[in-house]
Amino acid sequence: MINLPQRPRRNRKNATIRGLVQENSVTVNDLIFPLFLTEGKNKRSEISSMPNIYRYSSDLLLKEIESCLKLGLNTFCLFPSLSDKLKDKRATESLNKKGLYQVTIKEIKKRFPEAIIMTDVAMDPYSSDGHDGFVKNGQILNDETLEILAKMAVVQAEAGADIIGPSDMMDGRVGFIREALDDAGFTDVSIMSYTAKYASAFYGPFRDALDSAPKFGDKKTYQMDPANSREAILEADLDFNEGADFLMVKPALSYLDVIKLLNDNFNLPIAAYNVSGEYAMVKAAAEKKWIDGDKIRDEILLSIKRAGASVILTYFAKEFALSKK
Ligand code: PBG
Repeated sequence: MINLPQRPRRNRKNATIRGLVQENSVTVNDLIFPLFLTEGKNKRSEISSMPNIYRYSSDLLLKEIESCLKLGLNTFCLFPSLSDKLKDKRATESLNKKGLYQVTIKEIKKRFPEAIIMTDVAMDPYSSDGHDGFVKNGQILNDETLEILAKMAVVQAEAGADIIGPSDMMDGRVGFIREALDDAGFTDVSIMSYTAKYASAFYGPFRDALDSAPKFGDKKTYQMDPANSREAILEADLDFNEGADFLMVKPALSYLDVIKLLNDNFNLPIAAYNVSGEYAMVKAAAEKKWIDGDKIRDEILLSIKRAGASVILTYFAKEFALSKK
């Protein structure tokens, strides 16, 4: 025998021992399921680049939420898919208390008070420019946008949102929204800030889903440069000081280092958004039988957890929950 005092394989010798020494695991409690809401009744349309992910009219969305709750999947992030006629330069529809999004949130919270609803704060689903902020002369104006975002957040809180998710990347928005929520009496409504949101090509399928691609240019004057990680610390510092309850990194897979960086440096829970393009790649390769989609899904979620995210927003949430039944 070769003299080897340390044989790491001893801790891998059977499933029970591997279970004992396992450092990380993913449970349904860690997951947030993004859901797409659309107009109409009894409507469900699949997003072509995201197999098994649908836009639901509000009646069917309620059914979908009910079936997720039965699986122990309790937290949802809602995105509205609106027709062009409801879009304008100022995202006016986002402030309509009787709008589809707001009415649906109210209905969900009435039917399923135990469901946790996260809403999205950004102008793009409502904007005729397809940008997250207010556009003037081809520029995305920061401070003018903050006013709109803060109003949007308050309307969403009034509808019953538990967590507000500013995904717009304007400077100062977390503090601005926090103050507006507090002034309106919503001190208990949380903010999950999209802290390090990168200008990423991985959002493609999502923009198909909402038909929300920018009408001109790109989002590089507000979303972060994929080349940067120190800048994520700057953004996280600001969000922490402005009152964020969670710091999010988005996308997840090409940014695992950023997840770890924030987890190592901040004592707030770190969230990661396993985005549409990441989901689409796995589904496409699995359809071709080039990979085992279920195993890849579990490995991906685990890697995000291992990097330091305690919360994962993922389109895999429901199938993961189903696989655990
Ligand atoms: C926009 C928003 C985007 C996503 C969530 N909120 C797209 C974008 O910034 O263009 C992407 C989510 C995904 O790709 O799954 N405010």
